[in-house]
Amino acid sequence: MTIRGVHIRNRIWVPPMCQYSIFERDGIPRTWHTVHLGAMAVGGAGLIMVESTAVAPEGRITVHDCGIWNDSQRDAWKEIVDFLKSQGAVAGIQLSHAGRKASVRPDWNYAGASGAMPEEEGGWQVIGPSEIPFDAESKTPRVMGPADIESVISSFRAAARRSVEAGFTVVEIHAAHGYLLHEFLSPLSNTRKDAYGGSLENRARLLLQIVETVRAEVGSDVAVFVRFSATDWSEGGITPEEISSVARWCHESGSDLADVSTGGNVIGVTIPTGPSYQVTFSELVKRNADVPTVTAGLIVDPVLANEIVTSGQADAVYFGREHMRDPHFTFRAAVALGAEMDYWPAQYLRSRPQRVVKGSSSKVAF
Ligand SMILES: Cc1cc2nc3c(=O)[nH]c(=O)nc-3n(C[C@H](O)[C@H](O)[C@H](O)COP(=O)(O)O)c2cc1C
Repeated sequence: MTIRGVHIRNRIWVPPMCQYSIFERDGIPRTWHTVHLGAMAVGGAGLIMVESTAVAPEGRITVHDCGIWNDSQRDAWKEIVDFLKSQGAVAGIQLSHAGRKASVRPDWNYAGASGAMPEEEGGWQVIGPSEIPFDAESKTPRVMGPADIESVISSFRAAARRSVEAGFTVVEIHAAHGYLLHEFLSPLSNTRKDAYGGSLENRARLLLQIVETVRAEVGSDVAVFVRFSATDWSEGGITPEEISSVARWCHESGSDLADVSTGGNVIGVTIPTGPSYQVTFSELVKRNADVPTVTAGLIVDPVLANEIVTSGQADAVYFGREHMRDPHFTFRAAVALGAEMDYWPAQYLRSRPQRVVKGSSSKVAF
């Protein structure tokens, strides 16, 4: 698949997955990230989207998040990106600001503690479109004024520049899962009365300004994705039809692909999860907005994924947790689909599946 000038060797992709593993609290990725992401590149994934990476310190979900707001972070990412590329994978980065969902404790790391991280422990005052906290445990956001909006846009601009300098050829803008840009999009978290609230055009304004800014910064060769939550799974929330319109506007403003996810902006909702439960949203956005999409969500079967792509419901499939269970998942998928791979790491050649002589000539097996 080729998007802009970016050729991606297959449509099995790794979605962004936070690792909360920067124990030094400086946003600099280290050995964990090299191993975690590197194994998936060795394992044949087409595109690897590195986790939600903060464009500013106060945009982190936790103090253990990755960042790309300074040159040290950029240089650390470059080493990882160089390795991913050396294995033939395309390296993407998800740029994010957590908004009102920032400054929380990663619960697995704090003896079961969760909720807001107080300032005396390293937390900070969070910002958002309106004075509505995410839940009862969360901090109440400070309402963003014009200077905050300017500052967020310029943080995305600088992060996009550093991403390109680090060698990423795909930049994904995180506008899903209840983080800042989703907070602006959804009427459940945005009750502003200014040019950034009210109508869909107004709620989408900040995202579109960021898409335009990022596109201008990365130049014409880098692909820009936007991750959306197509529904809040809640009465009065954002709808798939609205997200289809926003995806089209983003496309007109310079993005190349819509990454269609759901949820994350409000708690206490019922989500009918199950294998491929988000695919219908991808299909709808793809059809309504006429943009390429990637889908994700409990897809583990390569045959099902192949059907999703060949039937035109999505252009590619993100396999998340399945890649954590098996970073060489793409090799297995190729075998399951009887597909020829023109890629296999030289060091692993002796593990390469052999053709089965009996039966169909297209079959391979371990
Ligand atoms: C450990 C973990 C971390 C995640 N972190 C992110 C993230 O940084 N950004 C994001 O947009 N989604 C994140 N997600 C959601 C995944 O990108 C993906 O959409 C989701 O896991 C569904 O795909 P799967 O069922 O194949 O895992 C995360 C999911 C997991 C399991």
